[in-house]
Formats: sequence, structure tokens, C-alpha cells
Amino acid sequence: MSEITPVISATGLFTPPDVITNDELVASFNAYVARYNADNASAIAAGKVAELSPSSVEFIEKASGIKARHVINKPPILDPAIMAPRWDERPNEDISVLAEIGVKAARDALARAGRLPSDVDAVLCAASNMQRAYPAMAIEIQEALGIEGFGFDMNVACSSATFGIQTAADYVRAGHARSVLVVSPEICSGHLNWRDRDSHFIFGDVATAVLVESREMAPTAHWEIVGTKLKTVFSNNIRNNFGFLNRATPETADAADKLFVQEGRKVFKEVVPMVAAMIIEEAGRLGLDPAALRRLWLHQANQGMNRLIAQRVLGHEASEDESPTVLDTYGNTSSAGSIIAFHLHQADLVSGDLGLICSFGAGYSAGTVFVRKVC
Ligand code: COA
Repeated sequence: MSEITPVISATGLFTPPDVITNDELVASFNAYVARYNADNASAIAAGKVAELSPSSVEFIEKASGIKARHVINKPPILDPAIMAPRWDERPNEDISVLAEIGVKAARDALARAGRLPSDVDAVLCAASNMQRAYPAMAIEIQEALGIEGFGFDMNVACSSATFGIQTAADYVRAGHARSVLVVSPEICSGHLNWRDRDSHFIFGDVATAVLVESREMAPTAHWEIVGTKLKTVFSNNIRNNFGFLNRATPETADAADKLFVQEGRKVFKEVVPMVAAMIIEEAGRLGLDPAALRRLWLHQANQGMNRLIAQRVLGHEASEDESPTVLDTYGNTSSAGSIIAFHLHQADLVSGDLGLICSFGAGYSAGTVFVRKVC
């Protein structure tokens, strides 16, 4: 039996229209800090409560490269009395917010591939933060699109999309499915502690979709999946304890522990060498010269991390053309980041060009997807 080759037929993107600039973000954060310090003035003076420090646009741009982020619901995030996204709870009959944005990205991918929902066999919802425990978001997306077959959720934090692509490719290779949608709706604003100076600037909201299919049914222009590699190594340095056993809202005292927390410096130092080595090793296994990769679509968490990883892989300082950034306008969008970069920065490559989609994040987790353009 000849081997079935999995390819990426198309990708899709949904970008929420609301944008928060660093100026707006810092103004709101600093208003909160001023209010907090005034409300706690006597306790601060008595040394019982720590005074909060203001944030700064200069720090954010220098430390991360982020200039703005898209969010689903801007006003309550910027309200110093709330500082979290808020929306009315929807009845069970209505589509959930996470599924809604996932469907939008999925429809975009299907349209670009010239595909009908009835052609798709499976939906993986691969994302950092599911809106609820069950039924699976993937099954809700499947239902909304009118897809038969099966769907399930998978969460490997910022690496969810690349883990999803390998899972989809394996289904295609094994003959369990011919067409699989990997959908990554990321409402990161819901798990970000907007009152934490160290991380309030990091995340944004978005949804992406990747259509992985058997080459036999793919459109003429597609990306062959040359090879994938996944890796996980346990670490507490990026963590989110939110869950059904330990609920909290940003208003409660222990909220910080139930939202995103990280040891940013440690993450930086430990993840950069791990990911660079993994890419070089995997390229070697596939018989590819990493320095000859035409483009790297890296996870979008921090411009410094991406600069270092790209430099180690390519052997020289990468240009924007070699390692494009979407971090400046999208912020860190968790698993969706490398897919946004791929979606927005691939049309100019020519047949035969080799590239790499690479994600890394909490777990630790890292995933590489080497792709070759066919058109
Ligand atoms: N505004 C102004 N100053 C700030 C600030 C803010 N919002 N946040 C922190 N600072 C200050 C700190 O208090 C500290 O001051 P000090 O030197 O007087 O102690 C200084 O800036 C450096 O803080 P630090 O947290 O060490 O910054 P950093 O240079 O490590 O950058 C990250 C922070 C998070 C941007 C960076 O570590 C990072 O991106 N790491 C990668 C991890 C990542 O992106 N993970 C996402 C999930 S994959």
C-alpha cells in the first residue's frame, strides 16, 4: 500500500476588531495602581501592604516587542475597576464565544481550500484555554459547520496547534481521516491577570484554523508536511491553575494563582536552547540543512526569544523576511501565534521552498512542523 502524504491545504484567521494599544493599556493599569495605592495608603505607610509600581510603554516594547493586541471585549479590560473581559453568559442553545470565533477561522480556511464542510472528517480544537469542561468545543464547532465524523479538544498550551497538526497528519497517514480541521480559538484575555505589572501586556485574542488533508484531495497549491516532531518537559515556570476544582475570579484574593503566571526570565533562558536544539536535530533527521530554511514561522511570545532561536537555527541574525513577526500587532496569542505568522507571510514563497512552523510554551512543550511549498 503506498503511503498517504498529509499536506496543509489552507489556513484561516479570525482577528477580533477591537485593539488595545500599549498607551491605552498602560493608562488603565496606572489608573488602577494609583487607585490601589490611594485606597491602601495607611497600610502601605505601615508596611503592611506593598505599594504597586506603575507600568511603562517603553518597558513593554523593549522587553517583548508587543505594541498592541486584539481583544474580544475591550471596555471592561480597560476599566480600572474591572480589568477583565466580561460578557453575558449565553444560554446553552447559543453557540459559545470560543466556538464562534473558531468557526469564523475554520470557514476562512475551508473557503481558501475550496472545501465544503461535508468534505471534512474531523475537527480538533487545539488551544490553551477551553471555555468549559464539556461537551468538547471541537464538537460544537463541528456541529456549527455541519461536519460529520468526530471532534475532540486538546490542550498543550502554546504548542497546541503544532501538536494538533501532527495529530491530524497522523490520522491522514493512518487512513482514519482524509481531511482534518485543526482550530485554535485563543481568548487569552480571559486567563491574563490584567492587574499584574509583569505580564499584563503579554496576551491577545484571535482564532486560527489549519486544514490538514491527504495530498490526493488537496488543492494544487498546498504545503507538504515534510516532518513533525513534538517534545514535552515538565516545568512550573509557566502555569495556570484555573479549573473546576479551584475557581476564582480576578476580584478574589487568590485570583493571581488561578490565572496565567510565569517566571519569564527562566522561561527565556530554558526554552530558547531547548527549541533551537530540537529544530536543528529534527532538520538533521529529515536530511535538511537548517540554514537553508527559507522562512521560520515561530511562536510569537517575545521578539528576543525569536531573534535568538532564529539566529541559532539559521546561523546568522534573521531578517524580518526570514522570521516574520506578528507579535507587534497581535501580542502573544498562545498556540495561534505561529499559525498567524504562517497565514500572513507565506504567499510570496515559491514551489520547493522549505519552511518551519514552530511553537513552544507551557508544559514545557515544543512542536516543529517542516513544510515544503507545492504550487
Ligand atoms: N513596566 C515597567 N517595568 C516593569 C514592568 C512593566 N510592565 N514589568 C516588569 N518591570 C520591571 C521589573 O520590576 C524589573 O525591575 P528591576 O530590574 O528593578 O527588578 C525589570 O523591569 C525587569 O523585569 P523582568 O520581569 O525581569 O523583565 P524581562 O526583561 O525578563 O522581561 C518578559 C519580561 C516576560 C517580557 C520576558 O521575561 C519574556 O518574554 N520571557 C519569555 C517568556 C514568555 O514570553 N512567555 C510567554 C508564554 S510562552
